[in-house]
Amino acid sequence: MKPVRKAVLPVAGLGTRVLPGTKTVPKELLNVVDRPILSYIVAEARAAGIEHIVFVTGRGKQAIEDYFDHQVELEAQLKAKGKTDVLDALLAELPRPGEMSFVRQMAPLGLGHAVWCARDIIGDEPFAVMLPDVIVDAAPGALKQLIEVHDRIGGNVIGVEAVPDSETHKYGVVAPGERDGRLVQMTGMVEKPPQGSAPSNLSIAGRYILQPEIFAALAAQEKGAGGEIQLTDAMVRLMAGQPFHAYEYEGVTHDCGDKIGLLKANVALALKRPDLGPAARAAVEAILAG
Ligand code: UTP
Repeated sequence: MKPVRKAVLPVAGLGTRVLPGTKTVPKELLNVVDRPILSYIVAEARAAGIEHIVFVTGRGKQAIEDYFDHQVELEAQLKAKGKTDVLDALLAELPRPGEMSFVRQMAPLGLGHAVWCARDIIGDEPFAVMLPDVIVDAAPGALKQLIEVHDRIGGNVIGVEAVPDSETHKYGVVAPGERDGRLVQMTGMVEKPPQGSAPSNLSIAGRYILQPEIFAALAAQEKGAGGEIQLTDAMVRLMAGQPFHAYEYEGVTHDCGDKIGLLKANVALALKRPDLGPAARAAVEAILAG
């Protein structure tokens, strides 16, 4: 079985739910506590052993490429001022030469289309897809948990989290077969099912391990929910010939693509930080006390 070495991070979306901030700043570079959302995702990928990250970018997203490069003047200033700990943290996040590729999605036609744009760089091996606006607070990280499952059973492994029944209409939802602990056989999935019609409360949460045959399924470029080329629809097509499992990973999911999700991520992750937690708690309590 081939190992999972590469991850696709689609960052070409418009981020309309968090406008106006995303008019000039890519959603994936909005800060959570003190670093961009994307910084958490790249750290999760590296901790899972990912060797190569493919960003699918679009117009107005150049700042993402710049974020993962030297900022020569800033680095010189930090050095001159003796701020070596800050400088070291910046340098530690930079990619190894050749660790990152950038491919352009020329129009935001949907998540499925974005993933398809990475096909030549991924080639003929299993790979991860990580939604770069979803932070999963977990140890080990969510992707590492999925890769461990893939190393054991192969096939396609989709990260899911249980959501309240009243929320299933917002997500891709899994049709479940047999369950073995956190692992659930998948018999189907639907994108944003109308309220009351969801086949389960297991929502597809933004972490996937997929086999390269998904690219042939995506090549049809059929439009689905919202008029977009959906990854979910291609997975359903692939399901006819390949095993799919959902894995209910351990951890807390923060959807930072949404205003309240972004706010919750900031509060929750600040409260957990050893250096900021006590001050963050005092600030939140003071606000609540009015
Ligand atoms: P979303 O639907 O959450 O992102 O897609 P969006 O389209 O940016 O958000 P809204 O709804 O307008 O607020 C999940 C991820 O897939 C990427 C997005 O950048 C996001 O990180 N994506 C989506 C693409 O790269 N290309 C697309 O065509 C669509």
